[in-house]
Amino acid sequence: MDTSSLWRAIARAPGFGTLQGSVECDVMVVGGGITGVTTALLLAQQGRKVVLLEAETIGSGSTGHSTGNLYATASRGLSGIASHWGDPVAREVLAARTAAVDFVEAQCRDIPSALFTRCALYRAARFASDHAAIEQEHKVLARLGCRVRLDSGLPGGLPPPSGQVLVLEDQAQFQPQAYVAALAQRAAQAGASIHEHSRVVEFDFKQRVATTATGTVRAGEMVLATHSPKGVHVVHAEMPVHREYAVAFEVGAVDPGPGIFWWEGDEGLSVRILEHEGRRFLVAIGPEQKVGTHNAKAALMAVEAMANSYLSPGRAVHRWSAQNYRSHDGLPYIGRDHSGCFVASGFAADGLTWGTVAARGIAAQLAGQRDTFIERCTPGRFTPVKGGKALLEEFSTMAQSLVKDYVTHRKQEKLVSLAPGDSAIVDSEGETVAAWRSPEGELFAVSSVCTHMGCKVHWNSVETSWDCPCHGSRFRPDGTVIEGPAIAPLQRKQVRGIG
Ligand SMILES: Cc1cc2nc3c(=O)[nH]c(=O)nc-3n(C[C@H](O)[C@H](O)[C@H](O)COP(=O)(O)OP(=O)(O)OC[C@H]3O[C@@H](n4cnc5c(N)ncnc54)[C@H](O)[C@@H]3O)c2cc1C
Ligand code: FES
Repeated sequence: MDTSSLWRAIARAPGFGTLQGSVECDVMVVGGGITGVTTALLLAQQGRKVVLLEAETIGSGSTGHSTGNLYATASRGLSGIASHWGDPVAREVLAARTAAVDFVEAQCRDIPSALFTRCALYRAARFASDHAAIEQEHKVLARLGCRVRLDSGLPGGLPPPSGQVLVLEDQAQFQPQAYVAALAQRAAQAGASIHEHSRVVEFDFKQRVATTATGTVRAGEMVLATHSPKGVHVVHAEMPVHREYAVAFEVGAVDPGPGIFWWEGDEGLSVRILEHEGRRFLVAIGPEQKVGTHNAKAALMAVEAMANSYLSPGRAVHRWSAQNYRSHDGLPYIGRDHSGCFVASGFAADGLTWGTVAARGIAAQLAGQRDTFIERCTPGRFTPVKGGKALLEEFSTMAQSLVKDYVTHRKQEKLVSLAPGDSAIVDSEGETVAAWRSPEGELFAVSSVCTHMGCKVHWNSVETSWDCPCHGSRFRPDGTVIEGPAIAPLQRKQVRGIG
Protein backbone atom coordinates (compact mmCIF):
# COMPACT_ATOMS: atom_id res chain seq x y z
CA MET A 1 0.00 0.00 0.00
CA ASP A 2 1.24 3.52 -0.80
CA THR A 3 1.55 5.17 2.62
CA SER A 4 2.88 8.57 1.58
CA SER A 5 1.13 11.39 3.39
CA LEU A 6 -0.94 14.12 1.75
CA TRP A 7 1.61 16.70 2.95
CA ARG A 8 4.59 14.92 1.38
CA ALA A 9 2.73 14.17 -1.83
CA ILE A 10 2.01 17.86 -2.53
CA ALA A 11 5.20 19.52 -1.19
CA ARG A 12 8.34 20.17 -3.21
CA ALA A 13 11.41 18.21 -1.96
CA PRO A 14 14.40 20.41 -1.11
CA GLY A 15 16.94 17.87 -2.50
CA PHE A 16 20.09 18.13 -0.34
CA GLY A 17 23.17 16.02 -1.19
CA THR A 18 24.51 13.03 0.76
CA LEU A 19 27.37 13.50 3.23
CA GLN A 20 30.73 12.75 1.57
CA GLY A 21 34.00 12.34 3.51
CA SER A 22 35.08 13.69 6.88
CA VAL A 23 33.70 16.93 8.25
CA GLU A 24 34.22 18.86 11.49
CA CYS A 25 31.73 21.30 12.95
CA ASP A 26 30.59 23.05 16.12
CA VAL A 27 27.23 21.29 16.36
CA MET A 28 25.95 18.18 14.62
CA VAL A 29 22.18 17.76 14.44
CA VAL A 30 20.95 14.24 13.68
CA GLY A 31 17.43 14.23 12.22
CA GLY A 32 15.67 16.46 9.71
CA GLY A 33 12.19 16.77 11.23
CA ILE A 34 10.81 19.99 12.71
CA THR A 35 13.08 19.68 15.78
CA GLY A 36 16.32 19.13 13.88
CA VAL A 37 15.69 21.63 11.11
CA THR A 38 14.61 24.40 13.52
CA THR A 39 17.65 23.70 15.72
CA ALA A 40 19.98 23.84 12.70
CA LEU A 41 18.44 27.14 11.55
CA LEU A 42 18.75 28.82 14.95
CA LEU A 43 22.33 27.62 15.50
CA ALA A 44 23.39 28.68 11.99
CA GLN A 45 21.84 32.09 12.70
CA GLN A 46 24.00 32.23 15.86
CA GLY A 47 27.01 31.90 13.53
CA ARG A 48 27.88 28.30 14.46
CA LYS A 49 29.18 25.75 12.00
CA VAL A 50 26.30 23.26 11.84
CA VAL A 51 25.96 19.92 10.06
CA LEU A 52 22.53 18.25 9.87
CA LEU A 53 22.33 14.58 8.90
CA GLU A 54 18.98 13.14 7.80
CA ALA A 55 18.60 9.40 7.21
CA GLU A 56 16.07 9.78 4.41
CA THR A 57 14.67 13.12 3.30
CA ILE A 58 13.69 16.26 5.22
CA GLY A 59 10.33 15.68 6.92
CA SER A 60 10.25 11.93 6.28
CA GLY A 61 9.73 11.13 9.99
CA SER A 62 6.62 12.02 11.97
CA THR A 63 6.76 15.70 10.95
CA GLY A 64 5.78 14.97 7.35
CA HIS A 65 3.16 12.45 8.52
CA SER A 66 1.46 14.56 11.20
CA THR A 67 -1.76 16.59 11.08
CA GLY A 68 -0.17 20.03 10.94
CA ASN A 69 -2.03 21.48 13.93
CA LEU A 70 -0.34 24.02 16.21
CA TYR A 71 -1.79 24.75 19.64
CA ALA A 72 -0.81 26.06 23.05
CA THR A 73 -2.62 23.30 24.93
CA ALA A 74 -1.88 19.55 24.81
CA SER A 75 -3.86 16.92 22.93
CA ARG A 76 -4.39 14.91 26.12
CA GLY A 77 -5.56 18.08 27.86
CA LEU A 78 -3.87 20.66 30.05
CA SER A 79 -5.88 19.55 33.07
CA GLY A 80 -3.64 16.46 33.44
CA ILE A 81 -0.51 18.65 33.47
CA ALA A 82 -2.13 21.10 35.90
CA SER A 83 -3.13 18.34 38.32
CA HIS A 84 0.29 16.62 38.11
CA TRP A 85 2.53 19.69 38.19
CA GLY A 86 0.26 22.51 39.45
CA ASP A 87 -1.02 25.66 37.76
CA PRO A 88 2.33 27.54 37.66
CA VAL A 89 3.90 24.80 35.49
CA ALA A 90 0.74 24.53 33.35
CA ARG A 91 1.12 28.30 32.74
CA GLU A 92 4.77 27.76 31.75
CA VAL A 93 3.61 25.10 29.26
CA LEU A 94 1.09 27.51 27.75
CA ALA A 95 3.67 30.30 27.55
CA ALA A 96 6.36 28.12 25.93
CA ARG A 97 3.95 26.59 23.43
CA THR A 98 2.30 29.94 22.58
CA ALA A 99 5.73 31.44 21.90
CA ALA A 100 6.59 28.46 19.67
CA VAL A 101 3.38 28.86 17.62
CA ASP A 102 4.17 32.59 17.25
CA PHE A 103 7.71 31.65 16.12
CA VAL A 104 6.29 29.33 13.43
CA GLU A 105 3.90 32.08 12.33
CA ALA A 106 6.78 34.52 11.99
CA GLN A 107 8.80 32.01 9.93
CA CYS A 108 5.77 31.36 7.70
CA ARG A 109 5.34 35.03 6.75
CA ASP A 110 7.45 34.48 3.66
CA ILE A 111 6.68 30.76 3.16
CA PRO A 112 3.28 30.87 1.38
CA SER A 113 3.44 27.11 0.66
CA ALA A 114 3.31 26.48 4.44
CA LEU A 115 -0.35 27.65 4.37
CA PHE A 116 -0.21 28.94 7.97
CA THR A 117 -3.71 29.86 9.19
CA ARG A 118 -4.94 31.02 12.57
CA CYS A 119 -8.03 29.08 13.68
CA ALA A 120 -9.90 27.77 16.71
CA LEU A 121 -9.48 24.38 18.35
CA TYR A 122 -12.71 22.47 19.08
CA ARG A 123 -12.89 19.62 21.58
CA ALA A 124 -16.17 17.68 21.41
CA ALA A 125 -17.70 14.49 22.79
CA ARG A 126 -19.54 11.75 20.94
CA PHE A 127 -20.72 10.07 24.14
CA ALA A 128 -22.01 11.39 27.47
CA SER A 129 -19.14 9.58 29.24
CA ASP A 130 -16.75 12.25 27.85
CA HIS A 131 -18.73 15.33 29.00
CA ALA A 132 -16.90 15.56 32.32
CA ALA A 133 -13.46 15.59 30.65
CA ILE A 134 -14.50 18.49 28.40
CA GLU A 135 -15.99 20.49 31.26
CA GLN A 136 -12.89 19.90 33.39
CA GLU A 137 -10.59 20.99 30.54
CA HIS A 138 -12.68 24.13 30.03
CA LYS A 139 -12.46 24.93 33.75
CA VAL A 140 -8.66 24.56 33.80
CA LEU A 141 -8.04 26.54 30.58
CA ALA A 142 -10.32 29.35 31.79
CA ARG A 143 -8.55 29.40 35.17
CA LEU A 144 -5.20 29.65 33.39
CA GLY A 145 -6.40 32.69 31.45
CA CYS A 146 -6.98 31.18 27.98
CA ARG A 147 -9.58 32.56 25.51
CA VAL A 148 -11.85 29.55 25.88
CA ARG A 149 -15.63 29.03 25.88
CA LEU A 150 -18.25 26.29 25.80
CA ASP A 151 -20.49 26.24 22.73
CA SER A 152 -23.46 24.16 21.67
CA GLY A 153 -22.45 23.03 18.16
CA LEU A 154 -19.76 22.54 15.53
CA PRO A 155 -19.41 24.37 12.19
CA GLY A 156 -19.65 23.20 8.58
CA GLY A 157 -21.99 20.21 8.81
CA LEU A 158 -19.89 18.32 11.37
CA PRO A 159 -22.07 15.85 13.29
CA PRO A 160 -23.85 17.31 16.34
CA PRO A 161 -21.79 16.76 19.49
CA SER A 162 -22.99 15.07 22.64
CA GLY A 163 -23.04 17.89 25.21
CA GLN A 164 -21.09 21.12 24.97
CA VAL A 165 -18.06 21.84 22.77
CA LEU A 166 -14.92 23.46 24.12
CA VAL A 167 -13.67 26.22 21.78
CA LEU A 168 -10.13 27.55 22.25
CA GLU A 169 -9.47 30.61 20.09
CA ASP A 170 -6.30 31.74 18.34
CA GLN A 171 -4.61 28.41 17.61
CA ALA A 172 -3.20 27.57 14.16
CA GLN A 173 -2.58 25.01 11.43
CA PHE A 174 -0.15 24.69 8.52
CA GLN A 175 1.33 22.34 5.92
CA PRO A 176 4.09 20.68 7.99
CA GLN A 177 6.11 19.23 5.09
CA ALA A 178 6.21 22.48 3.12
CA TYR A 179 7.23 24.33 6.30
CA VAL A 180 10.07 22.05 7.26
CA ALA A 181 11.39 21.88 3.67
CA ALA A 182 11.45 25.69 3.43
CA LEU A 183 13.01 26.03 6.88
CA ALA A 184 15.79 23.60 5.87
CA GLN A 185 16.53 25.76 2.83
CA ARG A 186 16.60 28.80 5.10
CA ALA A 187 19.03 27.02 7.45
CA ALA A 188 21.26 26.15 4.48
CA GLN A 189 21.20 29.81 3.36
CA ALA A 190 22.26 30.75 6.90
CA GLY A 191 25.29 28.45 6.52
CA ALA A 192 24.17 25.02 7.82
CA SER A 193 25.39 21.97 5.84
CA ILE A 194 22.36 19.74 5.36
CA HIS A 195 22.64 16.19 4.08
CA GLU A 196 19.80 13.86 3.13
CA HIS A 197 20.11 10.09 2.62
CA SER A 198 22.82 10.23 5.30
CA ARG A 199 21.75 7.77 7.99
CA VAL A 200 24.04 7.66 11.00
CA VAL A 201 24.94 3.99 11.43
CA GLU A 202 27.47 4.40 14.23
CA PHE A 203 27.50 6.90 17.10
CA ASP A 204 30.29 7.79 19.51
CA PHE A 205 28.31 9.99 21.89
CA LYS A 206 31.28 10.73 24.13
CA GLN A 207 33.52 11.91 21.32
CA ARG A 208 30.54 13.36 19.36
CA VAL A 209 31.38 11.42 16.23
CA ALA A 210 28.75 10.07 13.83
CA THR A 211 29.45 7.77 10.92
CA THR A 212 27.29 7.28 7.85
CA ALA A 213 27.86 4.89 4.92
CA THR A 214 29.71 7.66 3.08
CA GLY A 215 31.28 9.92 5.70
CA THR A 216 32.04 10.96 9.25
CA VAL A 217 31.16 14.06 11.24
CA ARG A 218 33.09 15.19 14.34
CA ALA A 219 31.44 17.90 16.39
CA GLY A 220 31.78 19.85 19.61
CA GLU A 221 28.13 19.12 20.43
CA MET A 222 25.61 16.56 19.19
CA VAL A 223 21.82 17.05 19.11
CA LEU A 224 19.78 13.85 18.71
CA ALA A 225 16.69 15.22 16.97
CA THR A 226 15.64 11.73 15.91
CA HIS A 227 12.24 11.85 17.68
CA SER A 228 13.33 9.01 19.98
CA PRO A 229 17.05 9.32 20.76
CA LYS A 230 19.18 6.70 19.01
CA GLY A 231 20.89 4.09 21.20
CA VAL A 232 20.12 3.32 24.83
CA HIS A 233 18.90 6.29 26.89
CA VAL A 234 17.13 6.43 30.25
CA VAL A 235 14.12 8.19 28.69
CA HIS A 236 13.26 5.03 26.72
CA ALA A 237 12.15 3.37 29.96
CA GLU A 238 9.57 6.12 30.46
CA MET A 239 8.05 6.46 27.01
CA PRO A 240 5.09 4.44 25.72
CA VAL A 241 5.14 4.50 21.91
CA HIS A 242 2.02 4.72 19.76
CA ARG A 243 1.17 4.74 16.09
CA GLU A 244 -1.67 6.79 14.68
CA TYR A 245 -3.43 6.14 11.37
CA ALA A 246 -4.50 8.89 8.99
CA VAL A 247 -6.70 9.07 5.91
CA ALA A 248 -7.01 12.11 3.60
CA PHE A 249 -10.26 12.30 1.62
CA GLU A 250 -11.54 14.67 -0.98
CA VAL A 251 -14.00 16.94 0.80
CA GLY A 252 -17.64 15.80 0.57
CA ALA A 253 -20.76 17.08 2.29
CA VAL A 254 -18.92 18.11 5.47
CA ASP A 255 -16.59 21.11 5.12
CA PRO A 256 -16.03 23.04 8.36
CA GLY A 257 -13.17 25.19 6.97
CA PRO A 258 -10.13 26.12 9.09
CA GLY A 259 -10.15 24.60 12.58
CA ILE A 260 -8.75 21.80 14.72
CA PHE A 261 -11.57 19.35 15.49
CA TRP A 262 -11.00 16.72 18.17
CA TRP A 263 -13.50 14.15 19.40
CA GLU A 264 -12.67 12.73 22.82
CA GLY A 265 -12.53 9.11 23.87
CA ASP A 266 -11.44 5.67 22.69
CA GLU A 267 -13.33 6.17 19.43
CA GLY A 268 -11.94 9.67 19.07
CA LEU A 269 -11.07 11.32 15.79
CA SER A 270 -9.00 14.37 14.88
CA VAL A 271 -10.19 16.17 11.74
CA ARG A 272 -8.99 19.14 9.72
CA ILE A 273 -9.37 20.60 6.23
CA LEU A 274 -6.57 21.51 3.83
CA GLU A 275 -7.00 23.61 0.72
CA HIS A 276 -4.21 23.22 -1.82
CA GLU A 277 -4.26 24.70 -5.33
CA GLY A 278 -8.06 24.78 -5.43
CA ARG A 279 -8.53 21.22 -4.11
CA ARG A 280 -10.00 20.64 -0.67
CA PHE A 281 -9.07 17.66 1.49
CA LEU A 282 -10.47 16.37 4.78
CA VAL A 283 -7.80 14.72 6.94
CA ALA A 284 -8.94 12.29 9.67
CA ILE A 285 -6.65 10.73 12.28
CA GLY A 286 -7.81 7.88 14.53
CA PRO A 287 -7.00 6.91 18.12
CA GLU A 288 -3.51 5.90 19.22
CA GLN A 289 -2.46 2.24 18.92
CA LYS A 290 0.42 0.77 20.89
CA VAL A 291 3.30 -0.07 18.53
CA GLY A 292 3.72 -3.75 17.68
CA THR A 293 0.62 -4.92 19.56
CA HIS A 294 -2.23 -4.10 17.18
CA ASN A 295 -3.53 -5.12 13.77
CA ALA A 296 -2.38 -2.26 11.55
CA LYS A 297 -4.81 -2.96 8.69
CA ALA A 298 -7.76 -3.10 11.09
CA ALA A 299 -6.68 0.19 12.73
CA LEU A 300 -6.44 1.96 9.39
CA MET A 301 -9.76 0.55 8.19
CA ALA A 302 -11.43 1.65 11.44
CA VAL A 303 -10.36 5.28 10.85
CA GLU A 304 -11.66 5.16 7.29
CA ALA A 305 -14.95 3.59 8.40
CA MET A 306 -15.42 6.12 11.24
CA ALA A 307 -14.73 9.06 8.92
CA ASN A 308 -17.07 7.64 6.26
CA SER A 309 -19.90 7.19 8.71
CA TYR A 310 -19.62 10.56 10.51
CA LEU A 311 -18.22 12.93 7.91
CA SER A 312 -19.56 11.74 4.53
CA PRO A 313 -16.29 12.54 2.77
CA GLY A 314 -15.46 12.01 -0.91
CA ARG A 315 -12.84 9.55 -2.21
CA ALA A 316 -9.94 8.52 0.09
CA VAL A 317 -6.74 9.72 -1.62
CA HIS A 318 -3.94 9.15 0.91
CA ARG A 319 -3.48 6.76 3.83
CA TRP A 320 -0.54 6.89 6.19
CA SER A 321 0.65 6.31 9.71
CA ALA A 322 3.23 7.75 12.08
CA GLN A 323 4.58 7.34 15.57
CA ASN A 324 4.54 9.32 18.78
CA TYR A 325 6.47 8.94 22.04
CA ARG A 326 4.78 10.04 25.25
CA SER A 327 6.45 11.02 28.50
CA HIS A 328 4.90 9.79 31.75
CA ASP A 329 4.45 13.22 33.33
CA GLY A 330 3.13 15.31 30.42
CA LEU A 331 6.30 17.36 29.85
CA PRO A 332 8.72 16.59 27.02
CA TYR A 333 12.36 15.58 27.52
CA ILE A 334 14.60 18.40 26.32
CA GLY A 335 18.27 18.91 27.12
CA ARG A 336 21.52 17.10 27.70
CA ASP A 337 21.18 13.55 29.04
CA HIS A 338 23.64 11.05 30.52
CA SER A 339 25.13 10.42 27.04
CA GLY A 340 26.43 13.99 27.01
CA CYS A 341 24.31 14.79 23.94
CA PHE A 342 21.16 16.87 23.66
CA VAL A 343 17.94 14.91 23.23
CA ALA A 344 14.41 16.09 22.39
CA SER A 345 11.63 13.55 22.83
CA GLY A 346 8.45 12.59 24.71
CA PHE A 347 6.35 14.99 22.60
CA ALA A 348 3.21 12.77 22.48
CA ALA A 349 1.00 13.93 19.60
CA ASP A 350 2.00 17.57 20.19
CA GLY A 351 5.53 17.62 18.77
CA LEU A 352 5.20 20.18 15.99
CA THR A 353 4.98 22.73 18.78
CA TRP A 354 7.13 20.83 21.33
CA GLY A 355 9.79 20.27 18.63
CA THR A 356 9.88 24.03 18.07
CA VAL A 357 10.04 24.65 21.84
CA ALA A 358 12.90 22.11 22.04
CA ALA A 359 14.86 23.67 19.18
CA ARG A 360 14.58 27.14 20.69
CA GLY A 361 15.48 25.80 24.14
CA ILE A 362 18.54 23.84 22.95
CA ALA A 363 19.77 26.76 20.84
CA ALA A 364 19.37 29.06 23.87
CA GLN A 365 21.21 26.63 26.18
CA LEU A 366 24.07 26.35 23.68
CA ALA A 367 24.22 30.15 23.64
CA GLY A 368 24.58 30.09 27.43
CA GLN A 369 21.08 31.42 28.17
CA ARG A 370 18.99 30.04 31.04
CA ASP A 371 15.34 29.06 30.68
CA THR A 372 13.61 27.64 33.75
CA PHE A 373 10.97 25.81 31.74
CA ILE A 374 13.56 24.07 29.52
CA GLU A 375 15.51 23.18 32.67
CA ARG A 376 12.32 21.63 34.07
CA CYS A 377 12.11 19.48 30.94
CA THR A 378 15.54 17.96 31.55
CA PRO A 379 15.71 14.28 30.55
CA GLY A 380 17.50 13.73 33.86
CA ARG A 381 14.28 14.27 35.87
CA PHE A 382 13.60 10.50 35.86
CA THR A 383 11.86 9.59 39.13
CA PRO A 384 10.02 6.27 38.90
CA VAL A 385 7.65 7.30 41.72
CA LYS A 386 6.07 9.93 39.43
CA GLY A 387 4.02 8.08 36.84
CA GLY A 388 4.94 4.80 38.51
CA LYS A 389 1.76 2.97 37.49
CA ALA A 390 2.17 3.77 33.82
CA LEU A 391 5.84 2.88 34.06
CA LEU A 392 4.98 -0.54 35.42
CA GLU A 393 2.50 -1.11 32.60
CA GLU A 394 5.20 -0.22 30.12
CA PHE A 395 7.68 -2.65 31.60
CA SER A 396 4.99 -5.30 31.73
CA THR A 397 4.35 -4.91 27.97
CA MET A 398 8.06 -5.32 27.44
CA ALA A 399 8.18 -8.46 29.55
CA GLN A 400 5.12 -9.94 27.82
CA SER A 401 6.69 -9.28 24.46
CA LEU A 402 9.91 -10.96 25.53
CA VAL A 403 8.23 -14.00 27.04
CA LYS A 404 4.98 -14.54 25.15
CA ASP A 405 6.37 -14.41 21.64
CA TYR A 406 9.19 -16.81 22.26
CA VAL A 407 6.63 -19.50 23.13
CA THR A 408 3.84 -18.76 20.67
CA HIS A 409 5.72 -18.25 17.40
CA ARG A 410 4.78 -20.33 14.38
CA LYS A 411 6.66 -23.47 13.33
CA GLN A 412 9.00 -23.75 10.36
CA GLU A 413 6.69 -25.91 8.24
CA LYS A 414 4.40 -22.88 8.04
CA LEU A 415 7.22 -20.97 6.36
CA VAL A 416 7.28 -23.41 3.44
CA SER A 417 3.74 -22.42 2.62
CA LEU A 418 4.26 -18.70 3.24
CA ALA A 419 2.21 -17.11 0.48
CA PRO A 420 3.25 -13.91 -1.34
CA GLY A 421 2.50 -10.96 0.95
CA ASP A 422 2.37 -13.20 4.05
CA SER A 423 4.62 -12.97 7.13
CA ALA A 424 5.50 -15.28 10.04
CA ILE A 425 7.77 -15.69 13.05
CA VAL A 426 9.25 -19.18 12.73
CA ASP A 427 11.80 -21.59 14.17
CA SER A 428 14.86 -22.03 12.05
CA GLU A 429 17.62 -24.28 13.38
CA GLY A 430 17.08 -23.22 16.97
CA GLU A 431 16.65 -19.53 16.20
CA THR A 432 13.49 -17.48 15.77
CA VAL A 433 13.31 -15.82 12.40
CA ALA A 434 10.98 -13.09 11.13
CA ALA A 435 10.04 -13.92 7.56
CA TRP A 436 8.05 -12.17 4.84
CA ARG A 437 7.45 -13.14 1.24
CA SER A 438 7.08 -10.18 -1.12
CA PRO A 439 4.15 -10.08 -3.55
CA GLU A 440 6.73 -10.99 -6.24
CA GLY A 441 7.65 -14.16 -4.30
CA GLU A 442 11.04 -13.17 -2.82
CA LEU A 443 11.58 -14.44 0.76
CA PHE A 444 13.11 -12.06 3.32
CA ALA A 445 14.24 -13.69 6.57
CA VAL A 446 15.76 -11.69 9.43
CA SER A 447 16.37 -12.18 13.14
CA SER A 448 13.19 -11.48 15.10
CA VAL A 449 15.18 -10.01 18.00
CA CYS A 450 15.23 -6.21 18.06
CA THR A 451 18.78 -4.86 17.98
CA HIS A 452 17.94 -2.15 20.51
CA MET A 453 17.36 -4.13 23.70
CA GLY A 454 16.33 -7.59 22.57
CA CYS A 455 12.51 -7.53 22.46
CA LYS A 456 10.64 -9.45 19.82
CA VAL A 457 9.42 -7.67 16.67
CA HIS A 458 5.83 -7.89 15.34
CA TRP A 459 4.55 -7.60 11.76
CA ASN A 460 2.91 -4.37 10.57
CA SER A 461 0.70 -5.30 7.62
CA VAL A 462 0.03 -1.74 6.45
CA GLU A 463 3.60 -0.55 6.18
CA THR A 464 5.21 -3.98 5.64
CA SER A 465 7.62 -3.57 8.52
CA TRP A 466 8.74 -5.41 11.65
CA ASP A 467 7.83 -3.21 14.65
CA CYS A 468 9.15 -3.54 18.19
CA PRO A 469 6.59 -3.03 20.99
CA CYS A 470 9.18 -2.11 23.62
CA HIS A 471 10.53 1.27 22.45
CA GLY A 472 9.14 1.56 18.93
CA SER A 473 12.05 0.58 16.67
CA ARG A 474 10.82 -0.36 13.20
CA PHE A 475 12.61 -2.33 10.51
CA ARG A 476 12.04 -3.07 6.81
CA PRO A 477 11.56 -6.72 5.73
CA ASP A 478 15.28 -6.81 4.80
CA GLY A 479 16.12 -5.75 8.38
CA THR A 480 17.19 -2.14 7.72
CA VAL A 481 16.17 0.38 10.38
CA ILE A 482 13.21 2.67 9.61
CA GLU A 483 12.83 4.54 12.89
CA GLY A 484 13.07 4.29 16.66
CA PRO A 485 16.11 3.98 18.93
CA ALA A 486 17.71 0.93 17.24
CA ILE A 487 20.88 1.71 15.33
CA ALA A 488 21.82 -1.70 13.88
CA PRO A 489 19.66 -3.56 11.34
CA LEU A 490 17.98 -6.90 12.09
CA GLN A 491 20.42 -9.58 11.04
CA ARG A 492 19.65 -11.24 7.67
CA LYS A 493 19.05 -15.02 8.03
CA GLN A 494 19.41 -17.84 5.55
CA VAL A 495 16.49 -20.27 5.81
CA ARG A 496 17.72 -23.48 4.26
CA GLY A 497 15.63 -25.24 1.65
CA ILE A 498 13.11 -22.45 1.25
CA GLY A 499 13.24 -19.99 -1.59
C1 LIG B 1 -0.46 10.86 13.02
C2 LIG B 1 0.22 11.93 13.83
C3 LIG B 1 -0.28 13.22 13.77
C4 LIG B 1 0.35 14.23 14.50
N1 LIG B 1 -0.16 15.48 14.42
C5 LIG B 1 0.41 16.46 15.13
C6 LIG B 1 -0.14 17.77 15.10
O1 LIG B 1 -1.12 18.06 14.42
N2 LIG B 1 0.45 18.71 15.87
C7 LIG B 1 1.55 18.44 16.63
O2 LIG B 1 2.04 19.34 17.31
N3 LIG B 1 2.10 17.22 16.64
C8 LIG B 1 1.57 16.22 15.91
N4 LIG B 1 2.10 14.99 15.95
C9 LIG B 1 3.39 14.78 16.62
C10 LIG B 1 4.51 15.33 15.74
O3 LIG B 1 4.30 14.90 14.40
C11 LIG B 1 5.88 14.84 16.19
O4 LIG B 1 5.99 14.91 17.59
C12 LIG B 1 6.96 15.73 15.57
O5 LIG B 1 6.81 15.73 14.16
C13 LIG B 1 8.34 15.23 15.96
O6 LIG B 1 9.27 15.95 15.22
P1 LIG B 1 10.80 15.55 15.30
O7 LIG B 1 11.53 16.46 14.39
O8 LIG B 1 11.23 15.50 16.71
O9 LIG B 1 10.83 14.04 14.77
P2 LIG B 1 10.66 13.50 13.26
O10 LIG B 1 9.82 14.38 12.43
O11 LIG B 1 10.25 12.07 13.38
O12 LIG B 1 12.12 13.60 12.67
C14 LIG B 1 13.16 12.75 13.09
C15 LIG B 1 14.07 12.57 11.89
O13 LIG B 1 15.25 11.88 12.30
C16 LIG B 1 15.67 11.09 11.23
N5 LIG B 1 16.56 10.04 11.72
C17 LIG B 1 16.24 9.00 12.52
N6 LIG B 1 17.33 8.21 12.72
C18 LIG B 1 18.35 8.79 12.06
C19 LIG B 1 19.73 8.44 11.88
N7 LIG B 1 20.26 7.32 12.40
N8 LIG B 1 20.49 9.24 11.12
C20 LIG B 1 19.97 10.38 10.56
N9 LIG B 1 18.68 10.74 10.70
C21 LIG B 1 17.88 9.95 11.43
C22 LIG B 1 14.36 10.53 10.66
O14 LIG B 1 14.51 10.06 9.34
C23 LIG B 1 13.43 11.72 10.79
O15 LIG B 1 13.33 12.48 9.60
C24 LIG B 1 1.50 13.95 15.28
C25 LIG B 1 1.98 12.65 15.35
C26 LIG B 1 1.35 11.64 14.65
C27 LIG B 1 1.88 10.26 14.77
S1 FES C 1 12.98 -0.77 20.52
FE1 FES C 1 13.91 -1.22 22.38
S2 FES C 1 13.99 -3.35 22.39
FE2 FES C 1 13.14 -2.90 20.47
